[in-house]
Amino acid sequence: MGISEETVVAVILVGGPTKGTRFRPLSLNIPKPLFPLAGQPMVHHPISACRRIPNLAHIYLIGFYEEREFAIYVSSISNELRIPVRYLKEDRPHGSAGGLYNFRDLIMEENPSHIFLLNCDVCCSFPLPEMLEAHKRYGGVGTLLVIKVNPELASEFGELVADPVTNELLHYTEKPETFVSDRINCGVYVFTPDIFTAIQGVSTQRKDRANLRRMSSFEALQSATRSLPSDFVRLDQDILSPLAGKKQLFTYETMDFWEQIKTPAMSLKCSALYLAQFRLTSPHLLASGDGTKSATIIGDVYIHPSAKVHPTAKIGPNVSISANARIGPGVRLINCIILDGVEVKENGVVIHAIVGWKSSIGKWSRVQAGGDHNAKLGITILGEAVNVEDEVVVVNSIVLPNKTLNVSVQEEIIL
Ligand code: GTP
Repeated sequence: MGISEETVVAVILVGGPTKGTRFRPLSLNIPKPLFPLAGQPMVHHPISACRRIPNLAHIYLIGFYEEREFAIYVSSISNELRIPVRYLKEDRPHGSAGGLYNFRDLIMEENPSHIFLLNCDVCCSFPLPEMLEAHKRYGGVGTLLVIKVNPELASEFGELVADPVTNELLHYTEKPETFVSDRINCGVYVFTPDIFTAIQGVSTQRKDRANLRRMSSFEALQSATRSLPSDFVRLDQDILSPLAGKKQLFTYETMDFWEQIKTPAMSLKCSALYLAQFRLTSPHLLASGDGTKSATIIGDVYIHPSAKVHPTAKIGPNVSISANARIGPGVRLINCIILDGVEVKENGVVIHAIVGWKSSIGKWSRVQAGGDHNAKLGITILGEAVNVEDEVVVVNSIVLPNKTLNVSVQEEIIL
């Protein structure tokens, strides 16, 4: 095979039910990677970005959710993209690098020259072809996407130092206690297959250490809680930190947007970022509001074709309305995600909120919040099948599934 025909595969880490706990209560109903942002499942955004990779042979999703949870999505997206997309289930979590290593034989089946590895819960423009070009120029084992952030926020992420001239990764620390750098790891990587040798090295070291410990029962007692299984390998602490400064890893800095999607409030913010990106990538997905029979649309709005929106409703900016939702006369929606089968009755108002599947909002009712993405109750969230009766006001609150609210609430978590 000539150089121009080198194949590339992409792997997206989707985690499993024990991850994504900060995404509750929404992750009680749906695996977090399938939660809709801008009307498309979270994982759809990195998958569709992969389309731009030249010679892409396969996309693998690796996780420890049940296979059936991804089956429908995976088969529909494979047909749509005409690229095979396959879900690979780990029997248990192996860590971000261990998960990749676990399926190395399958991943290497097509003899790819490069492997992209993407965290599912990051929101960015995924400049993948540009990263691949840079990676080939650098000639290392891996290239990480990095971004400059506000120094006060950097410690929530993997902080790194790169050579300003060669872009070599010189130093890497995951969530450090003291400030190292305002450049952080975006969770988007491209590797050569040599990455498997590096992961295997960590795994072998762990096995050797475990064998040594077995010889001394006292030490074994002491370190039992500290030691990780030999096949549990984290990309950040176990691979990036030790390989930094060894001319094997390089960085590619994005000047575009980047966010991590750990909480429902961040999913609302990221929905806005992806809607804004649709203006460039998929303008057909944005509601236009043209014509006398359509509702008034302000800014970026997604409306599923099966949703029914009354022409007197006023919608936007940053609103996503999922399948079979019904939006009544005089309704006002701002900065919100309305999930499948929701009904908002006449003159209802939803601002800075996520309204769960099949919920109902009564006439003249308001579901709203202050909209601070970092505050605990910064957005209002209604779980599945919540019934807000007429003229009820729900402010800065989280309501778990199947509740009926007949009185107004503020700053409450209703269990
Ligand atoms: P926090 O620790 O919650 O701050 O998350 P993080 O994003 O810094 O790191 P983590 O390395 O835990 O996760 C990175 C990505 O890999 C996320 O998309 C996870 O869902 C996914 N992930 C983490 N561990 C595993 C694993 O064992 N198997 C699989 N398949 N995915 C994983």
